[in-house]
Amino acid sequence: MIPVCEPTLIGNEKRYALDCIETNWISSMGKYIEQFEQGFATFCGVKHAVAVNNGTTALHLALAASGIGSGDEVIVPTFTMIASVNAILYTGAKPVIVDADPETWNMDTSPSGIKKLAAKITKKTKAIMPVHIYGHPVDMDPILEIAKQHHLLVIEDAAEAHGAEYQGKQGVKKCGAMSHAACFSFYANKIITTGEGGMIVTDDDVLAERLRLLRNHAFTKKRFIHNELGYNYRMTNIQAAIGCAQLEQIEKLIALRIKNAHCYNQLFKASGLVGKGITLPSEKPWAKNVYWMYGILIDEKTFGISKDQLMTELEKQGIQTRSFFYPMHQQPMFVNKKYPNGLSDADLRDHYPVADRLAQEGLYLPSSSHLTEEQIKTVVDAVVSLAKGQVHGG
Ligand SMILES: Cc1ncc(COP(=O)(O)O)c(C=O)c1O
Repeated sequence: MIPVCEPTLIGNEKRYALDCIETNWISSMGKYIEQFEQGFATFCGVKHAVAVNNGTTALHLALAASGIGSGDEVIVPTFTMIASVNAILYTGAKPVIVDADPETWNMDTSPSGIKKLAAKITKKTKAIMPVHIYGHPVDMDPILEIAKQHHLLVIEDAAEAHGAEYQGKQGVKKCGAMSHAACFSFYANKIITTGEGGMIVTDDDVLAERLRLLRNHAFTKKRFIHNELGYNYRMTNIQAAIGCAQLEQIEKLIALRIKNAHCYNQLFKASGLVGKGITLPSEKPWAKNVYWMYGILIDEKTFGISKDQLMTELEKQGIQTRSFFYPMHQQPMFVNKKYPNGLSDADLRDHYPVADRLAQEGLYLPSSSHLTEEQIKTVVDAVVSLAKGQVHGG
């Protein structure tokens, strides 16, 4: 079995985690928390990093600490993982969706995409949440520009994009360093992991302080006196210890992800199927794609079988894959109007042809950092041999 993604724990993870147990610092106080936060802030090129217990709570906390709540609206791509939108719902705000770019699969920032986004800005709009999908940075300049024009916050969902870079008007910047606040996930399949975990990064001193307050029940100096609603979103010292060890390896882990993607690209190009059934992931000239997941699109007509059939056949051969995200406007929780702050009727009626196509045609292939060339070749050979409907007994 070639799993779709496994963590790569090749450094001091065990030693540091054991240190927490041996020194009795297993909860959310201890030296590794601060060390991980400082190390991650330096890595991103920002002033502050605030560790939390997962990427979803990072997004919720960033929104809540930025003052976003009931009656507000946040613009987000429809092609994303549910957590981006759930975090908006938790605050009481309403997600407002836009379509994806056909090449980067991120929020559409072409002139027509920005025009459509602008048409969705109302008096209630408070923020835009670009999501760096599968490790390719969003084209941030058009988003930052429109946000500035309308006095909106930009909160990056960088859950999938540790180390990805964008070359824009501010020079080369890492994902996470381009907005008011950015959120990362350290779930086990992420480029670096803490098992479960998340981080909010920001240059804003006041916001950083609020994030620290709200992640810890909004405790005041006089303990057990609370002026406002807080949360228990704390990361444990054990998680942070694993994070510190992972951070020591981050450049290597990113380089491996990129190397694997290039290896996939090369083998697929050699197969002659690129543009004839298979679309490869892109890397724009202004981008450093870290290929968190190596995703491809399958055009049923030219490839011969559908993405779903391909996934089933690969599974039979011991190759695990995952479908691309199903866009928010297709989610039953919104279509069935279960939540008063769910997607508006207008948003549900709107068209999102790119996101629809990505959901129909997109899958990601095994993407662990420690994947071997031989495993990549096995996967590519299996995909290629299934082209043109070569499904036996199917
Ligand atoms: C785009 C995006 N945002 C947010 C999250 C949430 O992160 P977590 O699973 O750590 O809560 C994920 C998780 O995979 C994600 O892919």
